[in-house]
Amino acid sequence: MASLSVHCCILAFFVPPFIIPYTCLAKLPENHAALFILETLSLTLETITTSMAPKQTSGHMVRPSSKHPTVESAIGRLYLTSLPGFDNYTDGVNFASAGAGVLPETHPGTINLELQLSYFEEVEKKLKQQLGDAEAKKLLSKSVYLFSIGGNDYITITSSVNQSNVITSSYKKKYMTMVLGNFTTVIKKVYKMGGRKFGFQNLGPIGCMPATKASLGITSDCAHEPSVIAKMHNIALPKLLKKIQRQIPGFKYALYDYYTTLAERTLYSTKFGFKVGKSACCGSGTYNGEFTCGGKNGTVKYELCSKPSEYVWFDAAHPTESANRQLANLFWNGHPKITGPYNLKKLFDIL
Ligand SMILES: *[C@@H]1O[C@H](CO)[C@@H](O)[C@H](O)[C@H]1NC(C)=O
Ligand SMILES: *[C@@H]1O[C@H](CO)[C@@H](O)[C@H](O)[C@H]1NC(C)=O
Ligand SMILES: *[C@@H]1O[C@H](CO)[C@@H](O)[C@H](O)[C@H]1NC(C)=O
Ligand SMILES: *[C@@H]1O[C@H](CO)[C@@H](O)[C@H](O)[C@H]1NC(C)=O
Repeated sequence: MASLSVHCCILAFFVPPFIIPYTCLAKLPENHAALFILETLSLTLETITTSMAPKQTSGHMVRPSSKHPTVESAIGRLYLTSLPGFDNYTDGVNFASAGAGVLPETHPGTINLELQLSYFEEVEKKLKQQLGDAEAKKLLSKSVYLFSIGGNDYITITSSVNQSNVITSSYKKKYMTMVLGNFTTVIKKVYKMGGRKFGFQNLGPIGCMPATKASLGITSDCAHEPSVIAKMHNIALPKLLKKIQRQIPGFKYALYDYYTTLAERTLYSTKFGFKVGKSACCGSGTYNGEFTCGGKNGTVKYELCSKPSEYVWFDAAHPTESANRQLANLFWNGHPKITGPYNLKKLFDIL
């Protein structure tokens, strides 16, 4: 990556500071773009930052919560954590927080979407100080903003579903409207700050995850209620994005069908080169669907498969690195039916 040019600093030594209002502003190469990620920890997006878009994003960071410490340490080499004193954000930032939702009431204590946005606002200020207003705005307009969040909001309300306690369809609709409403607010705020290129991973197959099936005691391929609500969201999302596109000029996006691609791998694993799709590699209970991977400091027994690359799921809710590589490739470079209207590669390339 080309370095920032700082020639203006040399000049500034010979000129009284009050004559030049902006001394020493760094300048980025003409085609420089950054990648900003607002999400619950999906790991598919982390795979993109480490394998596919390294030139744009060598300096990303993550602020993980401690919800799933084992997954984070198992694949911790995928990301840099927030470094004290690190304040160069010209390559982008990953604001991911494991367990986070769109709504603040989902898993309190995690960094919800609105809070992630507030961190992004701090980063915007730093970029303006480093680059000047105009250059910062230019960088923000060329950069790509990735979103993968919402699954935890729906898992929270469907986790207590049983025969005597169903969610009415009007409640589902009302709840989804609230999730999408808050989501829209954040998208429009990023747009207002200069963002034009957006990437969205739709909701994953939350009903088919080992964790959901184990906690609801489901023996069929996918739990009904969580699947219904995820599909509702995924039908509403493309409509919403088209509507936003009509409202705000220059809004361009990639929408990745994460649901279908991950559900296919879970249900028809051998077609995609995996041996096991329905059970997780690490954990305990049915489908290894309990989050005991790592054994909680040696106090709990758990299973760990010998070849994670043969599995779609590493633990009860996170795909393995090999599955993530396939999924990330499809977001990056997938056919328009899987990722459209743009895929991420094209989104970076367009002006
Ligand atoms: C900030 O990051 C850019 C891009 O990676 C790099 O070229 C530059 O040297 C960094 N600037 C500072 C002040 O560290
Ligand atoms: C159904 O879920 C509710 C709320 O979580 C709980 O109070 C109730 O005991 C459950 N009923 C059955 C039959 O499991
Ligand atoms: C955002 O979510 C809150 C609940 O946390 C809700 O009261 C509010 O109406 C939602 N906002 C929008 C614009 O939908
Ligand atoms: C695990 O054990 C270590 C050392 O005994 C301790 O410092 C740490 O807090 C423990 N972690 C958890 C999650 O209990």
